[in-house]
Amino acid sequence: MSKIHDFILNGLDLKNKIILDAAVGAGVSTYFWAKAIHEQGGTSKIICVDNDLPEIWKERIKRRLGEYSRYIELKEADIFDLGFIEDESIDIVNCDDTIVFLNPKPLKLLSALKEFARILKPGGDLIITSEIPIETLDNPENEGQWKRWNLAKAIYKLKGETWSTEPVPEELRVALELLGFNVCAEKIFPSRKNFNHKEVMDEWKNLILKDIKEIPWNDDLKSALIKEVNKVYEKVMNDRYLMNPAIYVLKSRKIIKEGI
Ligand SMILES: C[S@@+](CC[C@H](N)C(=O)[O-])C[C@H]1O[C@@H](n2cnc3c(N)ncnc32)[C@H](O)[C@@H]1O
Repeated sequence: MSKIHDFILNGLDLKNKIILDAAVGAGVSTYFWAKAIHEQGGTSKIICVDNDLPEIWKERIKRRLGEYSRYIELKEADIFDLGFIEDESIDIVNCDDTIVFLNPKPLKLLSALKEFARILKPGGDLIITSEIPIETLDNPENEGQWKRWNLAKAIYKLKGETWSTEPVPEELRVALELLGFNVCAEKIFPSRKNFNHKEVMDEWKNLILKDIKEIPWNDDLKSALIKEVNKVYEKVMNDRYLMNPAIYVLKSRKIIKEGI
């Protein structure tokens, strides 16, 4: 198991629990949760939601999980509106690498956290895992990753779309406390070099060139952007790695209100 999943799952009782996985994505973290459920006797289930969950992805996630897929239920749903889940019916919410998408404008994140607070039982756990964005270039090893993200964000904006901002742990801690959670454990996992850089950069370049096509500019301006994309691609190829950002995990618990 990865060190991060070790920390996330450490001390959690996964017997007879209903867990919400928000959002499932490719099911990377879901795999570790389902495996842990199996190891604790196989009496819990995970409701996996994502607002983009076509059949082909459902199949891929089930294939990734193999025999553990019997512990999951996959449902296309928006985290901001989990109306199909009753109040105080969930034991644990796992929000892995998704919080950034829930933060497209100030205070929007609070509405997602409020939905988690609504569905969680008193004393239930909310576990959030997210990247700490690379803010400055004081470390030259970060340059390739920093340029890759910032160019992508700029091109996204030029297309007229909103790019969310990564909430940092301090902001999240305040938001959680406002909504009646206690942060019980937290840990930062340091940034590390990713030598799978070619695969990541090929996918990035492919997607970003498609995005540039959609920008309503003339061809000269677009070719200036394409030049920048090629420069960033070459830079990472010459470095021979991408620096993956540090990751934080906040483990919090919904406070049980006295007298209720
Ligand atoms: C990086 S992936 C999550 C990775 C996943 N936890 C894993 O371990 O593989 C982020 C996912 O959040 C989903 N997402 C973004 N906004 C959402 C929303 N409002 N409601 C539900 N899913 C959302 C995206 O479709 C995407 O699949």
